[in-house]
Amino acid sequence: RKISLTGIKPTGSLHIGNYFGAIKPALELAKDYDARYFIADYHALNSVKDSKELATYIREVAAGWLAAGLDPEKVVFYRQSSVPETFELSTILMAFTAKGLMNRAHAYKAAVQANNEKGEDPDAGINMGLYTYPVLMAADILLFDTDVVPVGKDQVQHVEMAQDIAQAINFNYKKDLLVIPQALIQESVAVIPGLDGRKMSKSYNNTIPLFAPEKQLRKLIMRIVTNSQTVEEPKNPDTCQIFALYKLFATKEEQDALAQRYRAGGMGWGEAKEALFQVVNRELAPMRERFEALIADPAGLNKTLQEGAEKARAIASKTIARLRKAIGIDL
Ligand code: TYM
Repeated sequence: RKISLTGIKPTGSLHIGNYFGAIKPALELAKDYDARYFIADYHALNSVKDSKELATYIREVAAGWLAAGLDPEKVVFYRQSSVPETFELSTILMAFTAKGLMNRAHAYKAAVQANNEKGEDPDAGINMGLYTYPVLMAADILLFDTDVVPVGKDQVQHVEMAQDIAQAINFNYKKDLLVIPQALIQESVAVIPGLDGRKMSKSYNNTIPLFAPEKQLRKLIMRIVTNSQTVEEPKNPDTCQIFALYKLFATKEEQDALAQRYRAGGMGWGEAKEALFQVVNRELAPMRERFEALIADPAGLNKTLQEGAEKARAIASKTIARLRKAIGIDL
């Protein structure tokens, strides 16, 4: 079987962008692939410097994967930090990564541009972890001989960089030492819009958290900004933020019915938001319950992650042994 791998960075609470863009497609893929799914905790350290906060987010992402249906008996499920082979591979990859490649990484470029716009030093607030982020991510991927990486669109460049780095190594040693990974994007969920219509992102503060309590969920949905069309006016579902989100959660029949009501007029934004809340809550409520039970049992969560880490290390140590030999580090 082919290998599917993906990770989530615990820099905040999971949101429905993570769920539809990555978690759901990844779990679907796990039926036909050998799956390795993990929590990219050392990636989060680049931005989360409060120890309690980081620990909380790690637990939340772990519980989130499980609440969404990940079966740790079938999927190798672990924390990046529990697989030290990742960091050895990252060191090897560094030697084959052009500095210029890192200069072109979107996240780094965006940070530089933001500094320039504020008239600050271009490198202000940028740590080496952010700068070399794609190398560590390449290590995550290449360590497991990954064939496909299910991700949202924002991660495509990172997977392409992993390809570049792997090719550089294969070329140098004239051997297929590393498997060249492919990003796997489901077009319909490649970019999930947030409450304001921009890409849903922790950094835009426009997310619908996956496990928000019901009351907060309703409040967030009611906060979606709409235009000033009156109740009577017909509305266009194709340009409507509420409808875009509705589509993710509703059946085809429900989508058609709501589209028809939009076009007929007589439906106000308040009612549309209520319809959205109903379908969102229908899908999220059972997951939320599982999530809360998992969070309430940190020892159980740790045990699951520990067992996963052992399986992950068993695989990873083989890749490292192969590479050490090939590069001449093992005498
Ligand atoms: P992260 O933690 O930012 O996001 C996790 C996953 O959620 C997807 N995603 C979205 N998809 C669609 N629409 C959105 N609005 C949206 N927001 C987030 C992301 O594309 C991602 O798939 N660098 C990665 C973590 C990582 C990783 C890896 C992923 C580290 N190592 C190895 C794959 C393989 C990241 O920051 O994702």
